[in-house]
Amino acid sequence: MAVWYSLIDLVLSRMDAEAAHGLALRALKSGLTPRDNRDDPSSLGVSVWGRSLPNPIGLAAGFDKNAEVADALLGLGFGLVEIGSVTPRPQEGNPRPRLFRLAEDRGVINRMGFPGQGLDAARSRLAIRPRRGFVGVNVGANKDSTDRAADYVTGCVALAPYADYLVCNVSSPNTPGLRNLQGRSELSGLLKRVQDAIGAKPVPLVVKIAPDASDDDLDDIVAVCRDLRLDGIIVGNTTLSRPASLRSPRRGETGGLSGAPLTSLSTEVLRKTARRVEGQFPLIGCGGVGSGADAYAKIRAGATLVQLYSAMVFEGPPLIRRIKDELAALLARDGHASVSAAIGADLR
Ligand code: FNR
Repeated sequence: MAVWYSLIDLVLSRMDAEAAHGLALRALKSGLTPRDNRDDPSSLGVSVWGRSLPNPIGLAAGFDKNAEVADALLGLGFGLVEIGSVTPRPQEGNPRPRLFRLAEDRGVINRMGFPGQGLDAARSRLAIRPRRGFVGVNVGANKDSTDRAADYVTGCVALAPYADYLVCNVSSPNTPGLRNLQGRSELSGLLKRVQDAIGAKPVPLVVKIAPDASDDDLDDIVAVCRDLRLDGIIVGNTTLSRPASLRSPRRGETGGLSGAPLTSLSTEVLRKTARRVEGQFPLIGCGGVGSGADAYAKIRAGATLVQLYSAMVFEGPPLIRRIKDELAALLARDGHASVSAAIGADLR
């Protein structure tokens, strides 16, 4: 299997990044990708929102925008998969090229701008899939929307029946003005409208924030989420910052940076968020996870679940098993019987 994936990696790494992504989606749809049927070590099991997951490693939003391959992705060994971002109406997104590999930095820059088939297409696929595994639905707003908050309401109401959790993504840097929804009154207004609209349906609702949030921003965001008794925060999305360490010729491209150059920034912002949340609800750590040590650092900084995307671009599916094995070894090394025992260990 390893040789098979090395060959595929070689081919994909020479292709245009978005074309390679399209090919990966097609392979997953066709069932060509091998499943990982091995049981996860029991120490990796984790409980969240009343559900038990076999492991805390998830695929972040953006890979399966149209809910085409959620079950194939779960079959690769992820403990959870997040589809989206889904916008109410279909839209093209930004002109290509809009996705760049920064191979020298193990990073990615994207300015996709929420290309997608829209709500109806995602809903019809989610409605016929078996309700197995843990699948989150991430919702965004159309670029030309005149009432962006209404787009989140529309998306959450329509997709709540098919979601194990819902995400309001207010942190994509590629839709002009979207990140302003993270401001205190905008965020509070938006989340209240969504909560009222989905009513008493027992779907956990979380918000995904930018790793560029300042300390003051975090004070506001966490205060709003705590006041509204939200179910979680994902920390976080791609960054607009460009670390001086970047070497790739593509480092000047416009868009959000992800992958290894984002690891320490996003883990630090996660830690700051966790200190403010004080365990009131779970956190999902996302940004630059490419090893068991990176996942473990997120958990110790307060994450119950961890997500990744960019590292898959460079390593493909074998990454998932490697991260899980490394994480299990690190938990054992430090005498933690379970993921839960390690959550927030660095905060204590
Ligand atoms: C993303 N990401 C993203 N996030 C989101 O909430 N909605 C989306 O539609 C997308 N789209 C998207 C496309 C591409 C090509 C990339 C690389 C990323 C952000 C992603 O979910 C994640 O938050 C960041 O990429 C950080 O994690 P990694 O990639 O460093 O593991």
